Amino acid sequence: MTKIFLFGATGDLSVRKLYPALYELFSRDRLPEDTQIICISRRPYDTEQFHSFLIDNVGGTRDVKKWFTFIKKLTYFQLSFPVLEDYIALKEEVDGDADSVNIFYLATAPQFFKPIVEHLSSADLLRNGNLNNRIVFEKPFGKNLQTAREINDHLVQYVVEDQIYRMDHYLGKEMIQNIMMLRFSNMIYDASWNKDYIDHIQITVAESVGVMERAQYYDKAGAIRDMIQSHLLQMLSLVALTPEGTLDSEDILRSKTEVLKALYIEDVKKDVVIGQYSGNGEVKAYREEKGVAPDSRTETYAAMKLKVDLPRWEGVDFYLQTGKRLEKKVSEIVIVYKCPNLGTYRDCPQNVMVIEIYPQEGMRFKFNMKKPGETKTLITREMEFCQSCMIDYAAPEAYETLIYEVVNGNHDLFTRWDEVWNEWVFVEKMLNECTNLQENLQYYEPGSKGPKAAGDLLLRDGRSWYSL
Ligand code: BG6
Repeated sequence: MTKIFLFGATGDLSVRKLYPALYELFSRDRLPEDTQIICISRRPYDTEQFHSFLIDNVGGTRDVKKWFTFIKKLTYFQLSFPVLEDYIALKEEVDGDADSVNIFYLATAPQFFKPIVEHLSSADLLRNGNLNNRIVFEKPFGKNLQTAREINDHLVQYVVEDQIYRMDHYLGKEMIQNIMMLRFSNMIYDASWNKDYIDHIQITVAESVGVMERAQYYDKAGAIRDMIQSHLLQMLSLVALTPEGTLDSEDILRSKTEVLKALYIEDVKKDVVIGQYSGNGEVKAYREEKGVAPDSRTETYAAMKLKVDLPRWEGVDFYLQTGKRLEKKVSEIVIVYKCPNLGTYRDCPQNVMVIEIYPQEGMRFKFNMKKPGETKTLITREMEFCQSCMIDYAAPEAYETLIYEVVNGNHDLFTRWDEVWNEWVFVEKMLNECTNLQENLQYYEPGSKGPKAAGDLLLRDGRSWYSL
């Protein structure tokens, strides 16, 4: 028997991502047949009222009959996160099968992580060392280095690392999982994946939406903590890792951590740009959004130039950029190759390989050829493979993949504590080094490419952003 206990059952994440993902798993028969899903929150619903809540709130189009069959599988349990008696009542309600796989999915604000884990343990629902008792944490795992450490120190009193699944939903995305395959199964890429061939790498995760309903969290976090600390550093570590052994999960995790430890910024003042979207006639400025302090200096955009202090990447620049209310929603990793060091070809346009994550999933490659009919003229062409354009393409959404992996006890697509720790170490060092970062907050037009200073960051090096 598999039991999924979903804490934060009426929250935004559950409604937008988790029920649709669970439904897809259910309708594709990817959940064990005897799976029970127990939805837990503070609201005083009974199961019937909760079903109505789901019908009214979970958007999307799906097979109505299957959707109703799925909903009937979900039961509701009212629980107040800090109250131990409620967990004891939960245990009484669900108890029975000692061998069942129990998954505790914490889709809650981080301040509830500690009491939930403690009470699950006191109520004997979560047993230390039992790998069938799994606990899933949504990001952010902490607000900074100290709080992340506090949460982890607390956690390890109740569970071992192998029971913990820390979510970074970018790791569930098809093309992010593909980075390893692309690199290591294609000699053409693997052989040139280093400082001798690669000039620089750009990673962009741009969004066109604003802060939406999440101001309460976002205004205290900002783009660096919300996006760079997790998704962009994970992408960077996958692109830059040097595996040393067998390419098994342990080896990959170790190599990713090596990259995170080796990250540095040469001059934080010059190499980091932060911005906040202003308003125009149609779109509200960030400071005017509901729940945002009117004098907020929280960054909704960040761009930076990083180095990786490992022999493979000596001299190679890594640029990261992310932001809200930008021109378009796009996630890409762009690998820009060096020019050949050969006679007249020295100045030819650089090869560019783009790993496309969103809106398309696929790859593009820019290369040079001879112009037909002329003997010495070069032209640049582009090859493209769009995986998500294929007619029979039905890859699972990131959350579907990740929940499936938790159910099957596979850790590969989750972040280990030493990764999270090193991500926070890097981010905190950057934030501490640049006390005047906030003073240099640049404002940018909604729907634009971000602050001008971010463009200048690359222009200075004779480059430009590729994706925006
Ligand atoms: C989340 C961030 O982790 O990722 C959000 O907290 C952001 O602020 C979201 O909007 C972006 O995810 P995706 O999959 O839409 O690119």
